[in-house]
Amino acid sequence: MPAVQSAYDPKDMKFRHLGPTGLKVSVLSLGGWLTYGGTQKGEIVKKCLETAWSHGINTFDTAEVYANGESEVEMGQALKELGWPRDEYVLTTKVFFGTGRKEPNTRGLSWKHIVEGLKSSLQRLDQPYVDIVFAHRPDPATPMKEIVEGFTQTIRNLNLAYYWGTSEWSATQIMEATQIAEKYNLIAPVVEQPQYNAFHRERFEVEYAPLYKQFQYGTTIWSPLASGFLTGKYNNGIPENSRFATNKDFFENTVKSLQSEEGKAKIEKVKKLTTLAEKLGGTVAQLSLAWCISNPNVSTVILGATKVEQIEDNIKALALSDKLTPEILEEIEKILDNKPTPPPSYGRER
Ligand SMILES: NC(=O)c1ccc[n+]([C@@H]2O[C@H](COP(=O)([O-])OP(=O)(O)OC[C@H]3O[C@@H](n4cnc5c(N)ncnc54)[C@H](OP(=O)(O)O)[C@@H]3O)[C@@H](O)[C@H]2O)c1
Repeated sequence: MPAVQSAYDPKDMKFRHLGPTGLKVSVLSLGGWLTYGGTQKGEIVKKCLETAWSHGINTFDTAEVYANGESEVEMGQALKELGWPRDEYVLTTKVFFGTGRKEPNTRGLSWKHIVEGLKSSLQRLDQPYVDIVFAHRPDPATPMKEIVEGFTQTIRNLNLAYYWGTSEWSATQIMEATQIAEKYNLIAPVVEQPQYNAFHRERFEVEYAPLYKQFQYGTTIWSPLASGFLTGKYNNGIPENSRFATNKDFFENTVKSLQSEEGKAKIEKVKKLTTLAEKLGGTVAQLSLAWCISNPNVSTVILGATKVEQIEDNIKALALSDKLTPEILEEIEKILDNKPTPPPSYGRER
């Protein structure tokens, strides 16, 4: 094989290990939910990936269910056209929800759907493997041993992935999967993909805390801007062409909740965060992303973007994260006033 000419320039990107593994992911990554294959198709998808890459982002996320498989098709096509060396980027997908088909075996975490779902994802992506395959949700209808065996087979026997992870599993379910893997010499999951942002903290900060301690469990976090709410764009209604407008049915309840007292209080917090962000020379979106980066249990913050300019904008969160001193973090904490309480330790913390 001829030597590969690299086009990748990490710029000022920061990298973190994916949990306990040797894999390095850029601390900002890019995903395709509701965007690529959904509202955005063709050239714009390629442009977004290219912009991310030009700033050192090496990690990209999709799922079989995104736009019923079209996200994988669009992102796969863009990756093919961009032609980056495969060993320079990290690609992740997720199985569980299927692609909208109604047959009983085309979703869930049966051994059959784990393998067949992932093979179909790879066909759509036009890739021989992904780096990480996620179980997009837990499946209480499938025995945990079967789930762990299914993912182990994709990695150990079929070479369809290098690692597997969980998404929105409870800490108890992750522990159970890990214990089964240890007991039966199977492969344990190494990373969780949970929602985490300034308004959604409890599970990430409290429930998962033992996982970080015991297993160095990694995290690729989603909706770091609460679907755009933390950009301040919804402070005065729903702008045309914004996510809440272009995915009206899905966000109907979210939009309604903005008119409640709780919703209005959240908007006030976004305004206060905006003032603080401006003092630091940034925007509220950049501050919100920088706040996520400041948590060492975050392996990578998955960005979502419909426009190249949003990526250009959001990437500046990296520089801002260096300005988040303990005093500034305390100021943010005061504005948010929503720090989850850890369980009592009776003076026995270590
Ligand atoms: N595992 C799971 O269950 C799960 C669930 C959801 C997402 N995810 C993953 O996480 C990724 C990120 O989630 P997300 O897309 O919800 O992230 P997000 O950052 O909370 O929202 C991204 C959206 O906010 C708007 N936006 C972003 N930057 C902006 C800026 N600077 N100014 C104005 N608007 C801006 C854009 O929407 P508009 O331009 O349309 O307003 C963009 O598509 C997804 O792509 C997916 O890979 C995983």
